[in-house]
Amino acid sequence: MRIDILTLFPDMFEGPFTQSIIKRAVARGHLEIHLHDIRDHTLDKHKRVDDYPFGGGAGMVMMAEPIALCIEKLQAERKYDAIIFMTPDGETFSQSHANRLSLHENIIILCGHYKGVDERVREMFVTEEISIGDYVLSGGELPAMVVVDALARIIPGVLNDETSALSDSFQDGLLSAPVYTRPADFRGHKVPEILLSGNDRLIGEWKLEQQLERTRQRRPDLLEKLDFDK
Ligand code: ADE
Repeated sequence: MRIDILTLFPDMFEGPFTQSIIKRAVARGHLEIHLHDIRDHTLDKHKRVDDYPFGGGAGMVMMAEPIALCIEKLQAERKYDAIIFMTPDGETFSQSHANRLSLHENIIILCGHYKGVDERVREMFVTEEISIGDYVLSGGELPAMVVVDALARIIPGVLNDETSALSDSFQDGLLSAPVYTRPADFRGHKVPEILLSGNDRLIGEWKLEQQLERTRQRRPDLLEKLDFDK
């Protein structure tokens, strides 16, 4: 999978994209990430990428032209399956959304800043808009990192244990069961006996019960959405 990210702050991605799972996904050739500085595509002699909003109002608006030129340059090189704009008024990101996106070959993620981007960019180029939650961040960079991380971990071959992404919370519509490691007794707090039993069937049943109980207590809304016929 190839992800092209359009941003005014490419350096923000340095840390998260050179560590852990994303680093491994890139190193193993499962994921290609290309960062594009929108400022490199402005035709303005002062390299301006934002301007005052027509009709007044607070804040600056990212201009259409540099973004359009950057997208068009990429589109001339390959076909994109999705052009995603990170914005608080987009569809709320979810595991099923990540699963769907992970099937794509090439995607563009556009990060907004200031008061947003000129609406015509959204009309002319953007195919979907994603929010990571009902709060406003300073820009789309952190949300883009969230989306890339969620995608990287579900690309087959990225995680060592193939089943481990499948057992993530939300993958089956439930929260995860609690997990324990050594020692079996930590300051008098013992690991549930069943996990030491070696009986895979009983352990599997216990885990499912725990998942259901945790989901019932913490996120009953998820149980209502469960499709038991799947
Ligand atoms: N940009 C600013 N806030 C955002 C959010 N909550 N989700 C996606 N993009 C954003």
